[in-house]
Amino acid sequence: MAHAAAAAQNDDWSPSSWRQKPAAQLPEYPDKAALGAMEQQLASWPPLVFAGEARALKAELADVAAGKGFLLQGGDCAEAFAEHHPDMIRDFFRVLLQMAVVLTYGAASPVTKVGRIAGQFAKPRSSPMEKKGDVELPSYKGDIVNDMAFTAEARIPDPARMEMAYRQSAATLNLLRAFAQGGFANLDNVHNWMLGFVEDSPQGHRYRSLANNITEALGFMRACGVSGASTPQLQSTELYTSHEALLLNYEEAFTRVDSLTGDYYSTTGHMIWIGDRTRQPDHAHVEYCRGVKNPLGLKCGPSLTGDGLLELIDLLNPENEPGRLTLICRFGADKVLDNLPALIRAVEREGRHVVWSCDPMHGNTISVQGYKTRPFDRVLKEVQSFFAVHRAEGTHAGGIHVEMTGKNVTECTGGARAVTADNLSDRYHTQCDPRLNAEQAIELAFLVAENLRAEAKDKNALAAA
Ligand code: PEP
Ligand code: CO
Repeated sequence: MAHAAAAAQNDDWSPSSWRQKPAAQLPEYPDKAALGAMEQQLASWPPLVFAGEARALKAELADVAAGKGFLLQGGDCAEAFAEHHPDMIRDFFRVLLQMAVVLTYGAASPVTKVGRIAGQFAKPRSSPMEKKGDVELPSYKGDIVNDMAFTAEARIPDPARMEMAYRQSAATLNLLRAFAQGGFANLDNVHNWMLGFVEDSPQGHRYRSLANNITEALGFMRACGVSGASTPQLQSTELYTSHEALLLNYEEAFTRVDSLTGDYYSTTGHMIWIGDRTRQPDHAHVEYCRGVKNPLGLKCGPSLTGDGLLELIDLLNPENEPGRLTLICRFGADKVLDNLPALIRAVEREGRHVVWSCDPMHGNTISVQGYKTRPFDRVLKEVQSFFAVHRAEGTHAGGIHVEMTGKNVTECTGGARAVTADNLSDRYHTQCDPRLNAEQAIELAFLVAENLRAEAKDKNALAAA
């Protein structure tokens, strides 16, 4: 589509224009009056993030798109009202920071940290109904919509839940900002946690040499006089927030005009993404997202073709602005080699600037003994294949997108501690999809770091040739 056509389309965009389009996955609220009142209320409340922050994230992602950085995006599949607790937030952040240090060393470039947190409350479902025995009820759609309990009453979409989601998001974000800036994220702390992980992990020897390299690099920096005391950047960090922009009623209420630029921004989080089930080009979710200026994610599953992707890129990033669009690929370990090259070639052929990120979770979900799980080796395989394809195509594997928690849960099988199918019931706590536990998440980061170093070697060899 030509730029003129895209611009003309933007003219009839408004924060509510999605309401004129067909929409998949949106709840049907029985109490329309209560819904309208809640939407009005939310629209008058303070935004959670500031447009300038979303622009800063976009600038970082533009560097990633240009091969000069790496995106680490992770967090819960679905946040839960009942799990709203400072320790959860702290433990998540501690693991994400350790992953980031390992990746920074591997990539030898900045790592942009984006949490699936402080707003990740709405879930698309593969089936609108859930059946247990003879009873069939509407599916659970995330705590912002209805309740997980298997009763007819609990499953009724309740607009009042949007207020709780907003308040919990605000409190979570507040604590994350304090951790990021207040000393918790100090590089020496993170380094020590990472060494603790290597020490404790049954597979620690596999990571020791990379960990030693990091220790040496930090020692060298210290010898040169670069320390937390001399360099504020080592004492604090930046963490951005993100979630799937699924519940458009909620997103619309927090769509605000930025006073500095006059542009519309979604202020529920810094980055929002479109799910694999709601990316129809003529539907509501694409319509909403194309009009806000935040960095956007787009989930790319096996049914997306090169042409289909280009059509979506035309709609979502008609100006070809670097950093605007992150393609989050989630094919399944065995489908990456078949699906990814066509998408990369379409994007390269048309010269589109995108961040390529790998979600190794959503294409690898299986059911074992009544539990939804993901074998860790499939997760690793998807990441390996993603990197291999990018190396073959000469493009930058720019990020990973994972479902993880700072807790020692048993939801994905495998990993250094070899969680087995029989262990799943020990600590299976997720509201929705199975997450990597703290150790599995850090192990994954070490693997990705090795791949990033291989990519860098290729590049150097090419430059020297
Ligand atoms: C998710 O990220 O939790 C999700 C539902 O992903 P997808 O849209 O890729 O299935
Ligand atoms: Co999920």
